Amino acid sequence: MDVRTVLYDFRVEPEILESMRHGTSKINEQLKDILSSVGLGKHTQSHPSEDAIFLSSFGNGRWAIFSCHSPDLVTLTFHYDRCPKAQSLKESPPVLDEGSMEALKQEVEKVLNPKKCKLFPEISRGAAIDRYVPTADRRLVEYDFDATTFEADSEYQNIKIMHSPQYGNMLILDNDPNLAESDLAYTKAITGNGRESYTGKEVLILGGGDGGILHEVLKENPKFITMVEIDQIVIDAAIKHLRGICYDSMDSLTGDNYEVKVADCIPIMQQYITEGKMFDYIINDLTAIPITTEPRGKLYL
Ligand SMILES: C[S@@+](CC[C@H](N)C(=O)[O-])C[C@H]1O[C@@H](n2cnc3c(N)ncnc32)[C@H](O)[C@@H]1O
Repeated sequence: MDVRTVLYDFRVEPEILESMRHGTSKINEQLKDILSSVGLGKHTQSHPSEDAIFLSSFGNGRWAIFSCHSPDLVTLTFHYDRCPKAQSLKESPPVLDEGSMEALKQEVEKVLNPKKCKLFPEISRGAAIDRYVPTADRRLVEYDFDATTFEADSEYQNIKIMHSPQYGNMLILDNDPNLAESDLAYTKAITGNGRESYTGKEVLILGGGDGGILHEVLKENPKFITMVEIDQIVIDAAIKHLRGICYDSMDSLTGDNYEVKVADCIPIMQQYITEGKMFDYIINDLTAIPITTEPRGKLYL
């Protein structure tokens, strides 16, 4: 079961808004009739001076709120369980689908006669598969995920691999999408889009647990690649579920011309500095906020 939330905005003439705020408005009665027709028959009206005008429910996982906002906005927030609890045949409300949401909008439009109206795509809450990933600047992205392929909490982060018909398996670390199987262009961009030659070169990869950079650079026959990834569970999950990214590059963590070290790359780099070890290329493929094993900054106070 999941709960769907549908949002409607109606830009109306200010007199309509005023009329709705008046508790006995004919408009309100017409709107209640519309909601009753989709199974919301119990109406609770707020005090006329309040902005929320009425809440309608049926006791079957459906409810709706009409609210008025000066100077000209009427919103309708509509919630319904996707699998409503069994009702008797007589009480069973009509099935809600995209068509009925549009039909509801049209019925309300007839009553409110809005200048503009908008029906937002519905939001699904409480679903077994979470399709939403917030961006760093708090916008909401909805993917077409149809399966949770893998999920674990390592010592360092939450690791999820979600399956998307559009993108293939996608690695999500601490709710931040890192890479999907369709993202070869991203890996190519990080490695220089063919402008750099790694043949015979000494390469250090920081992070890169999905194995994409390792797989691409190995194709060029480098002298040696050292990859330093902190999280063994990311590596293991990638080997199993992100074959379209890493292929067989991490099936063994050492080879003739590469080694994958499972460690924090910061002390390793400090050690390389001390030793005077040099690389031709250092590729940063760390998470946007790299993991630190040494607590610092205000988050740790
Ligand atoms: C999977 S790669 C992909 C990163 C990709 N460029 C992005 O930002 O979306 C990122 C990897 O960096 C690793 N990582 C983060 N901090 C690290 C650190 N201090 N040392 C080594 N690896 C680290 C994570 O475990 C993760 O597997």
